[in-house]
Amino acid sequence: MLNSLHAQTVLNRMSVDIDGVMQANQNRLLNGISLLLDEAEQLMPLLPPSALASASSTYSRHLVYADELGRYSAMLLVWHPGQHSPVHGHRTWCTYKVLQGQLTERHYKWNAATRRAKKCGQISRHAGDVVSAPAGLADIHQLVNQSAEVAVSLHIYGVDSERISTHVNYLIHEE
Ligand SMILES: [Fe+2]
Repeated sequence: MLNSLHAQTVLNRMSVDIDGVMQANQNRLLNGISLLLDEAEQLMPLLPPSALASASSTYSRHLVYADELGRYSAMLLVWHPGQHSPVHGHRTWCTYKVLQGQLTERHYKWNAATRRAKKCGQISRHAGDVVSAPAGLADIHQLVNQSAEVAVSLHIYGVDSERISTHVNYLIHEE
């Protein structure tokens, strides 16, 4: 006999299955993209010289590629000493590579009850490091340049260039 308890069981099973399929697809995509960034350092000349020479009030972002079919976009980010991103999750997948200098990546754990995130660790990312994050709130982070040198990173996001400023980050409050 069909009842709501049975429906809930089906829904729970379905959501676990969807989660598994999404994770497998996302891992395949992100691992594949990570392997394609060997020559990313060659993109540095695409930065306006002024971006490296003088600091704006926040880290600066420079669109360097927009897929013609709107599937993904690439940006070079310039981080002068002390500059940082907001704490954020991602509305889309992203992969980044540190091309120059050093960044600190702070990690946060999402608390669904408070709808905030708590810092749970950090790691140094050095030139040559490639990092990926899936869409959603499982990977919340903040990038900070805690060094005395300018850092540059390449970021690839699964959105078209029109939405790159508005549809990449979920801004998150800290607990
Ligand atoms: Fe991010």
